[in-house]
Amino acid sequence: MKELSLHLLDIVQNSITAGATRIEIGITNSVSQDLVEISVKDNGCGMSEEFVRRVTDPFTTTRTTRKVGLGIPLFKLAAETAGGEFKIASEVGKGTLVYASFQRSNIDRPPLGDLKGTLITLIQGAPKINIVYTYVTDRGQFILDTEEIREIMDGVAINEPEVLNWIGEFIRENEAELAAK
Ligand SMILES: Nc1ncnc2c1ncn2[C@@H]1O[C@H](COP(=O)(O)OP(=O)(O)OP(=O)(O)O)[C@@H](O)[C@H]1O
Ligand SMILES: [Mg+2]
Repeated sequence: MKELSLHLLDIVQNSITAGATRIEIGITNSVSQDLVEISVKDNGCGMSEEFVRRVTDPFTTTRTTRKVGLGIPLFKLAAETAGGEFKIASEVGKGTLVYASFQRSNIDRPPLGDLKGTLITLIQGAPKINIVYTYVTDRGQFILDTEEIREIMDGVAINEPEVLNWIGEFIRENEAELAAK
């Protein structure tokens, strides 16, 4: 079973490939609602309705000339296997929203994995993209916005090791603060 942070990395990678300059990542981790949610919203090139249908179910469509990718179908399968739902909304020229939910207590719900490491990897690899990361639990939420950080840093590159360390600490502290007791 693949960790959710690795699915997240795949989905965000798609957004980067789609030319997004802003990516909003949302994580819900709620014990009281027995719910884990992951959403990725980008302002990349988007997809047509027909194309969305094809990428969501590559196994059920007739063979096309295109190489069939697995990032989206595997994420969908993971959600549906763990009592959740999967949705994509996309518009050509506007962007894409990918959403997956999971029944938190489901035996087939993959662990969240290393969200902090995933975020750091993304910021390091794509320092020019604005990433807005929101993490919500029953105890509250925190938001990391790389555009805000870039402003505070006043010229220091966001992918400098010291800055990445600081961002990592910020995520770690907030996740710990918001963890279920
Ligand atoms: N956020 C997005 N914006 C625009 N197009 C997208 C987006 N996400 C996916 N796509 C399109 O859907 C296709 C399928 O995505 P998917 O992640 O399933 O496979 P892949 O990226 O092609 O290959 P893999 O993820 O297996 O390396 C992509 O090749 C791309 O054309
Ligand atoms: Mg992909």
